[in-house]
Order: sequence, then C-alpha cells, then structure tokens
Amino acid sequence: MKTERPTIDRARCESFGGIIASSNPPFLAWVDRNFMRQLGYDSSPLWESGTGQQGYLSAPTEVHWAVTNRCSGGCAGCYMDSHPLRQGAELSLGALKASLRQLAAMGVFHVALGGGEAFEREDFSEIVSYCREVGLVPNLTTNGQTIGDREVAICTLMGQVNVSVDGIGTHYGVNGRSGEFEKAFTALRRLKKAGVQAGINCVVSRNNFPLLAEVIGFAADEGLNEVEFLKFKPSGRGRSRYRGNALTQEMIREFYPRLMRVQRPSSLELKIDCSFIPALLYHRPPKVDLEKCAAAGCEAGNLLLAVTSDGTFSGCSFVDNSDREQIAEIGSRWHTSRHLQRFRNCSAKAREPCRSCGYLEVCRCGCRATALFYDDEFFGPDPECPFVADFRRRSH
Ligand SMILES: C[S@@+](CC[C@H](N)C(=O)[O-])C[C@H]1O[C@@H](n2cnc3c(N)ncnc32)[C@H](O)[C@@H]1O
Repeated sequence: MKTERPTIDRARCESFGGIIASSNPPFLAWVDRNFMRQLGYDSSPLWESGTGQQGYLSAPTEVHWAVTNRCSGGCAGCYMDSHPLRQGAELSLGALKASLRQLAAMGVFHVALGGGEAFEREDFSEIVSYCREVGLVPNLTTNGQTIGDREVAICTLMGQVNVSVDGIGTHYGVNGRSGEFEKAFTALRRLKKAGVQAGINCVVSRNNFPLLAEVIGFAADEGLNEVEFLKFKPSGRGRSRYRGNALTQEMIREFYPRLMRVQRPSSLELKIDCSFIPALLYHRPPKVDLEKCAAAGCEAGNLLLAVTSDGTFSGCSFVDNSDREQIAEIGSRWHTSRHLQRFRNCSAKAREPCRSCGYLEVCRCGCRATALFYDDEFFGPDPECPFVADFRRRSH
C-alpha cells in the first residue's frame, strides 16, 4: 500500500523541539529538536538552556474566537449568553485583522471561529479570508440554521466546520428547539456536497445522554468526519440551568464505556472536550495510551486561548478574565497575564485528592468552570470528577 507523506505547512520551535502543522491529512504534531533540524530549523532561543522551560507553550496552538455575540438561535443554556441583537461592543474588522496578524506572528495555527453566530457578522467572509491570508487555519462552529450560497462559499475556506446538533430528529439536548434538526441536517448535506470537512458538535447533558449512539450513527451514515462531544458547562445562561441539566455522577462514570460501546467502524473521529477527561481517567487508562492519542485535561493558557466578541481574552471560553485584558495586547500578555498564570498553576497548587492522583499532570485538576460553579474556588478540585466525588463521600 502506498502511504503519502503529509504536507507540512507550518512549524514553530518550542523548548522540546517544535510543533508542526499538516493540512493533508490535517494534524498538529509535537516533534523533537532533531526533527526540527531536518526541517531546516538549526537553532532557536527556546533551545538554549534556561529559556523556554516555563512549563507552557510559547504561544497557543488554537484560539477560540467569538467574533460576535449576536445570535438568533436563542439556545436556553448558551454559555456565551448570546442575543439576537448586539449586546455591548464588538471588535471592528480592522481591530480583528490586527490581532489575527499578531496571533499568526506568534505561531498560532488554528482559529476556531464562533460566537454568537459568526454568519450574523456581515463582514464574516473578510475575517475568514484574512485568516488564510496570514497563514491561520480558520475553523467554524455554526448552528447551521441559515446555510445558503454565501455561507457555503465561506465554509469552503475553512479547515473544519462543525454544526451544532444535540439530538437526531428532535433536539433533545439542553439547547434545542423543534425544527432545528432539519435545517442543521440540510446544512450538513450542503457542506459535504461542496467538499467541506464537516462534523457535529454535540453538547451532552442529562436529557440527551441516552441518545449518544443515535448522534454517532447519524454522523457515520452521513459520512461526516467528526463528532465532538462537549460537556454541558455552567457558564452564561448554562449557569441557571445547570443543576437540572448537568450529567449525573452515574452518567459521568458511564460516559466513556458507553462511547466505546456505541462507536462505529468508520472514518468518523470521536472527540471529547477537555472537561470530559476526568470521566475518561476514572477508567484508569495506561498513561502511554493517553500520550499516544494526545488526551489531556485543561489546556487553558497553554494550547488554548479564548476571545470574546469585545476582544477580551481568557484561558478558556467558559471562564471570564476579570482583568478584562484585550487580545490586542496578547503579544506581551501571553507570558505576564495573571489570569493565564492561574490556569498554568493549577497542578502546582492542587489540593487533595488531586495532589496525590497519578493522573494529575494529565488532567490538571479537571474543569475550572465546574470547580468555580460548585465551590467558587479557582484552585479547587473539579467536584464532578468521579475520583473527587468518591474522596468527598469518604471524607464526610
Ligand atoms: C456558543 S455556540 C456558538 C456557535 C453557534 N452559534 C452554534 O450554535 O453552534 C458554540 C458551541 O457551544 C455549544 N454550547 C452552547 N452552550 C453550551 C454550554 N452551556 N456548555 C457547553 N457547550 C455549549 C453549542 O452547542 C455550540 O456547539
């Protein structure tokens, strides 16, 4: 069988060697210094002893950017608390472009565009074209409710487009309303026909947990390339709906075995967001296997950076930056931001049972949004982690 060499489009140095990005097939890979030398990178200040050893990357690899907070979707649990009419300031096209240039210069690879509903920005196609112009790969999450010719044309520039689908036929999830699935389904078919890499984002909450197999089956039958399961988060409008809709402890423990049972032999990739990592670790996978599939917990302020529609950056889309630091300043703030530093310090400041957990360096204490919601403690353990739940039960 002939195996094709991947096309390496971009690379950047890191203290351990570097990160390479391929578009065909699409992947990012962490490589050592020898590999980087073979690519023509003979030296880097990050390779000199004493520099670049700070325990986090020299820049994020991926930035999640809500380019608008406008959205006609009206999802009941929207973590962005988006509204049909613009609320507050929105970055101008000029300001967005300046920050995209800066991110590209820092070596960021991907920008995950969303909102709000990104298509509700009239200048969205210019934002996407500009990402390509400066060498960033734009990806998109959309509700798929208004995918006409303009939208399909924009999507052909994307690396990956995920349409939000929380249940098949009827929306069973925390966010859905009737009629949405048909439009999302038509959108996915149109995108596939136009040759766009298309998949599904599925928010997993109490009411659609029993239906994960249907979502996977649908995606496999439609020839989609990815389903990303997002754990329902207590942020934005999700806060007030959280206690009634969050996964139960039994569901969290059952999540990973269920996913393994219902996966299909197909080219469909199943992804989980980092807040699901404790649910996976509970089944005690060997660390070498985790490394092979790059499974890791909270990546805020390391691989990940998030930006809200008014330009405020934060480590993760689900936790606010109370210092309101602006993306325009990210070049200098990446290393100095107190907000980002807090995420990076989570393992060092871990309390029990995380401090003694063999997975601490993989998991990094679970989801900060969940810890803040229940205990209002940034450095506290994630109360939904099964190890933490067992520990607390034993201690009471
Ligand atoms: C905020 S939306 C913005 C993009 C677009 N308007 C959409 O609906 O897909 C981005 C993703 O977050 C998901 N989402 C919304 N509220 C959430 C919550 N409380 N917890 C986790 N994911 C959530 C949505 O289903 C969607 O896949």
